[in-house]
Amino acid sequence: MTHPTKPVVSPRAAYDGHGTGGRDRADPCTMIILGALGDLSRRKLLPAIYQLMNEHLVDEQFQVLGVGRDGAQNDDTFRAAMAKALEESDEVTKFDEALWQELCPRLHFVSADLSKLDDYAAIGRRLEELEAKRPAEERNRLFYLAVPPSVFEPIVCNLSKSGIAPRTRTMDERPWTRIVVEKPFGRSLATAQELNHMLLGMFAEHQTYRIDHYLGKETVQNVLVLRFANSIFEPIWNRQWIHHVQITAAETVGMEGRGKYYEEAGVVRDMFQNHLLQLLSLTAMEPPAQMVANAVRDEKVKVLRSIRWLTPETIPSNAVRAQYTGGVVNGRSVPGYREEPDVSPDSIRPTFAALRLFVDNWRWNGVPFYLRSGKRLAERVSEIAVQFRSPPHLMFGHETRAEMRPNTLVMRVQPNEGVSLNFEVKVPGAAVALTSAIEIAPVDMEFDYAQAFGEVTAPAYETLLLDIMIGEATLFTRSDEVEAAWRVIDPLIQYWEEHQPKRMPTYAAGSWGPREADELIEEDGVEWREPKV
Ligand code: BG6
Repeated sequence: MTHPTKPVVSPRAAYDGHGTGGRDRADPCTMIILGALGDLSRRKLLPAIYQLMNEHLVDEQFQVLGVGRDGAQNDDTFRAAMAKALEESDEVTKFDEALWQELCPRLHFVSADLSKLDDYAAIGRRLEELEAKRPAEERNRLFYLAVPPSVFEPIVCNLSKSGIAPRTRTMDERPWTRIVVEKPFGRSLATAQELNHMLLGMFAEHQTYRIDHYLGKETVQNVLVLRFANSIFEPIWNRQWIHHVQITAAETVGMEGRGKYYEEAGVVRDMFQNHLLQLLSLTAMEPPAQMVANAVRDEKVKVLRSIRWLTPETIPSNAVRAQYTGGVVNGRSVPGYREEPDVSPDSIRPTFAALRLFVDNWRWNGVPFYLRSGKRLAERVSEIAVQFRSPPHLMFGHETRAEMRPNTLVMRVQPNEGVSLNFEVKVPGAAVALTSAIEIAPVDMEFDYAQAFGEVTAPAYETLLLDIMIGEATLFTRSDEVEAAWRVIDPLIQYWEEHQPKRMPTYAAGSWGPREADELIEEDGVEWREPKV
């Protein structure tokens, strides 16, 4: 495919005129990272800040205040730790010393025990020092909770009680205060509701940014552009033309030291409640009137609310769970789930699940959405594949029907971000005269982001951080949205927790999942795609 237009140089360029309001950089602010010495801060947040600086997207007054428990840390040790994190990060292609010299003096550290209200006074004092040079209306504060969910509640309460994070009445009030919460947002519908209740008791919805990092991925945002900036897809984007949709989020990694967390979560909480349901909502939603946060989120919520509820009667025939056993991934022998560190040898947490869901509305009635996700699968690939119906009548001879693949539009989220559409063509040659059958073969029409735009797409956290700094909430989950997603998933988790299988289905690490997942969709005469990576 040829290079279509000028390359997108910043993550927000594609949205120009909406969130940025024509501005070329974020609002001045201080980003306070609570849990600044943790994994998330080192692996994702600092690299994202570094990239934003590299693209001149943060304000000249931008500062970072890291908060951590370790009393032995200070500005210097924090800066050294962050330099190391950037040098080791996969997301920073080349560590640029000059850029680091610009970023380094903006990094600060204060030690505090976040469970103690008294310690917030020190954070407040440090903030005032950092903000002293800015006019009052520019003393914006972005609090990022890079801490385990078990401590969200006391921290949110202390932020509010200490007065360092005031509630604002409207979105336009200045200076602004924004609170960023990472997933998992609750571990059930009830806990998510409690968390929302607690958060919204102290902060307004417009101050609250719930992260689902999948929404920051370039191709995930492209689903909306592909659907609504092109007129050819909309007329066929419905039950009349679409046979089914397959959504896959396959990973090759295993526990990577997260056994303890995963034993609590399992694949359904970890991937389905958030990332997979987000992909489904974007694929199935109606066009919003405007590309603004609440209009988009309203449409997504409607989809989530239209998903047919899973019940104890329907779960056994619509859902499959499994665990990986030892196997070979990328040429390397790896242990099974139950042999991973911090995992119980008789654990029943699924590491793979496959689901058949239906969206009971006018557009999608009767169209199955097959969702699957798992650890230690054959390839790392996330994609949405929309399979169209077969032609109603074929006049090319009976043999051709068995050979033909239905048209499939694949939106590849990662890796090799892009879009492909397959269709049938005639194989060149005159054999038709002899056999009275035209030979038909499938071909793919491919669009590849890197080829077309010649640059690596922006990492999700870069996009999301910039959005928070400009107050653009489209890519964040609203309270009702997160609860609507839990409503879909809760019955399944409850059922599986209450009905342990006599024998947990398994799949070998490095395969495409258990046989049971194939059977789930073969009943409908469908096969899982083997995604091309
Ligand atoms: C996270 C999950 O939300 O998403 C992880 O907790 C998972 O278990 C990760 O590995 C996948 O994200 P990505 O961006 O690597 O596909």
